[in-house]
Amino acid sequence: MDMRVQIAGVELKNPVVTASGTFGYGQEFTPYGDLKKLGGISVKGLSLKPRKGNPMPRLVETASGMLNAIGIQNVGVEEFLGNKLPKLPWKETAIIANLYASSVEEFGDLAGLFADEEGVALLEVNVSCPNVKAGGSAFGQDPTLIRKVTEMVRSRSKDKPVMVKLSPNVTDITVAARAAEEGGAHAISLINTISGMAVDIRRRRPCLANVVGGLSGPAVKPVALRCVHQACNAVTIPAMGMGGISCAQDALEFILVGAHAIQVGTGNFIRPDFSFRLVDEIEALADELGLSNWDEFRGTLQV
Ligand SMILES: Cc1cc2nc3c(=O)[nH]c(=O)nc-3n(C[C@H](O)[C@H](O)[C@H](O)COP(=O)(O)O)c2cc1C
Repeated sequence: MDMRVQIAGVELKNPVVTASGTFGYGQEFTPYGDLKKLGGISVKGLSLKPRKGNPMPRLVETASGMLNAIGIQNVGVEEFLGNKLPKLPWKETAIIANLYASSVEEFGDLAGLFADEEGVALLEVNVSCPNVKAGGSAFGQDPTLIRKVTEMVRSRSKDKPVMVKLSPNVTDITVAARAAEEGGAHAISLINTISGMAVDIRRRRPCLANVVGGLSGPAVKPVALRCVHQACNAVTIPAMGMGGISCAQDALEFILVGAHAIQVGTGNFIRPDFSFRLVDEIEALADELGLSNWDEFRGTLQV
């Protein structure tokens, strides 16, 4: 099986990418596997200035999933480019910078800082975080804003490929996917977390200080698969699919409905070596299915 995939002009050695916010800045996971084994690493959402994120508690386990309201805690772009990126094996594994900003202009400024960074293969524009007051889902729920943010990022990032990360918290995911395509996105990624909440009946309080958070993990997989299927049918640009992937079969389901690559989020919390193992498990399953490359399988779902 030839495990390579091409997405937005970037070659990944295999379709396994770690999802933003669930794999730190990569380096934290070196005790659990060789980062060079992965197809790509999408680092924690980056903003122009460092952010502390939301007050705690901001993670709670739910049935077959997890709610988080981190609020894009991050070291800021300067620290990332100066001290985190140089430690990553960017020549062997595609590094994806996940961008968060609270205005269209700020997205442009942030994207501009990555335009000449050879260590960053792809920009992933997060217009879908449910846990922040400004930007985030507010952008991702408005197709006009998705298009404007995408256009702005494209205009400032020179030749760097741009992937727009979509929110499932919309009535029609195809409208959002088309808005990203119209704005000039080279790819889309989906899904970000689904807005949800958990409460404690003894304390009569919400479990998260932020009251609401984003649901991820196996519980969201059917929603994610439906979104990826619909989005892939609506646009011609490629997609990275994610949401609840916890075994090789899950990963292949996303590829079958049209995704070029997949991302693993909550799976990294369940087992920190999961993404590394998944590469081998996907290869074994692809062999079992008699595949020799992904083109034979991707998007071949019979409906
Ligand atoms: C703790 C946590 C933090 C996250 N932070 C980000 C983030 O900074 N930027 C982003 O685009 N997505 C973020 N996400 C969303 C994930 O990248 C992914 O889209 C989502 O969790 C669905 O995939 P999963 O079910 O495999 O976790 C975060 C998710 C979790 C669980």
